Amino acid sequence: MIKSSNIQPDFDKLTVYDSAVLASKYTAKKIAELILQKQKEGNRAILGLATGNTPKMVYEELIRMHKHEGLSFSNVVSFNLDEYYPISDNDEQSYTYFMNNNLFNHVDIKKENIHIPHTDCTSNQISEYCLDYENKIKSYGGLDLQLLGIGRNGHIGFNEPGSKFDSITRLIDLHPLTREDAIENFGDLNNVPHQAITMGINTIVQAKKILLLALGERKSEIIKKALNGTIATDVPSSILQTLPQVEYILDREAAVLIQK
Ligand code: F6R
Repeated sequence: MIKSSNIQPDFDKLTVYDSAVLASKYTAKKIAELILQKQKEGNRAILGLATGNTPKMVYEELIRMHKHEGLSFSNVVSFNLDEYYPISDNDEQSYTYFMNNNLFNHVDIKKENIHIPHTDCTSNQISEYCLDYENKIKSYGGLDLQLLGIGRNGHIGFNEPGSKFDSITRLIDLHPLTREDAIENFGDLNNVPHQAITMGINTIVQAKKILLLALGERKSEIIKKALNGTIATDVPSSILQTLPQVEYILDREAAVLIQK
């Protein structure tokens, strides 16, 4: 059963689902609807995509729709939020590997339409590379939809606490909590990169539609701060409170501290 609850008037875009599966399926449906609508109009769908545990079931559902319902990704142009720096594309912990494995290899997206920050540039090429990434998004008319997870410190993309709300795509130092959470994938803290390239907060908030998905009890504290707390750079995701195009999609566990 799908439950929806409006926590306060500002949050009429908040939906709480009984399970992570239902929340993920709803998110996938929203993405599919956009792709189909753009197909009908003869346009491309410009998607901003996330990695991590949160979107995995969303991508599974999109793959299912592709295989069993004929959903085509031929009109999709994708831009991923972030990538570790430095990391090789072939590294199983790279977000390029993640995206190929969890989505792109299983759908009919054109390879030339896939954009993920590549971190094979030298440190003095990075600023130019980041500006190119930013301009590439603009050249497509901006992101039609941005899918977001949220870090336990409130980051979106890798915009760590302290990131300016007008920041654009850039190299960033990863926060200790972000690196700690990445041990799960890298096996040891020493293996976790110290830096990443991330879209900026300003890049993200320009998206015409933003879906923030949060699953599980471990996200409940930060969800409370991000949705109900003060809007300040120490919780980067708090800026989303000010945006009309944001939809928060939570499972019951992530919403436990904001349920009435
Ligand atoms: C990933 C990203 C991050 C994650 C966040 C949550 O591309 O931009 O902001 O969305 O760290 O990660 P998970 O989903 O693994 O809890």
